[in-house]
Amino acid sequence: MNPSPIDREQPLAGIVALVTGGSGGIGLAITRRLGRMGARVSICGKNPSKLDRAAAELRAAGIEVLALQTDVTRADQIAGLVRKSQQTFGPIDILVNNAGIGLFGPFQEKSEADWDAVLNTNLKSVFLVSREVAPEMIRRKSGHIINISSLAGKNTFANGAIYCASKWGLMGLTGCLAEELRAHGIRVSVICPGSVATDFSGQSVKDPSKALQADDVAHAVAALVTQAPGSFISEVHIRPTRKP
Ligand SMILES: NC(=O)c1ccc[n+]([C@@H]2O[C@H](COP(=O)([O-])OP(=O)(O)OC[C@H]3O[C@@H](n4cnc5c(N)ncnc54)[C@H](OP(=O)(O)O)[C@@H]3O)[C@@H](O)[C@H]2O)c1
Repeated sequence: MNPSPIDREQPLAGIVALVTGGSGGIGLAITRRLGRMGARVSICGKNPSKLDRAAAELRAAGIEVLALQTDVTRADQIAGLVRKSQQTFGPIDILVNNAGIGLFGPFQEKSEADWDAVLNTNLKSVFLVSREVAPEMIRRKSGHIINISSLAGKNTFANGAIYCASKWGLMGLTGCLAEELRAHGIRVSVICPGSVATDFSGQSVKDPSKALQADDVAHAVAALVTQAPGSFISEVHIRPTRKP
């Protein structure tokens, strides 16, 4: 059967997504893309005015969005986020664990609080949010979890100790979740972008024209969630065509 024009344009009609850190940068681009494909999307972030701006922009584009101020390092707040999303839109089909922060510099100058902030935001949060969302996916025997890691989760570089540790950890966590959840019909994937032109943790890339765009990551997410159900792409590396 040929899909109708609407099906082709909105392959995610009826689908519910949750994008952590959907209020800015890569997460906002992913939310926009999933929304345009027909999904209803819940987003979260810590900064309420940033969330309000993102929600207004998405709604103006005709996207159904629920924006909730949530700190993804806090299990109690995550439980509230998932509950509210389920009450508003129904069970979550797609979870994108995107929220993340970066702290760079000589490791001996970093504090224990720096370590905790980065590891809790980039790694522990993925455990906490996935743990909250997975039971309903297991019950429904379907779902897709996409974790936004980084090429810093595959490589090492000076001044990247804490960030690289968090993203290497995320690679391991993703692999284990993929193995556990595939038996339940749930696909877990990880995307590893190189430098992306966002205001990541207040830092800008040197030459945005040679960096990836947030939309490049959104494109990869769209490809993953439209794959035929019998297989899944477990790991995606994204590099700019022109070398920075
Ligand atoms: N930019 C790059 O070069 C690059 C490359 C590879 C991978 N990545 C990864 O891509 C992801 C997104 O990065 P980005 O470049 O889009 O950064 P960004 O522009 O700084 O956006 C990060 C998002 O995460 C949210 N966030 C941060 N901490 C949070 C917390 N504790 N609870 C809830 N939300 C939180 C932020 O909201 P608030 O500001 O309101 O907290 C914001 O919406 C990160 O995981 C990052 O490691 C980035």
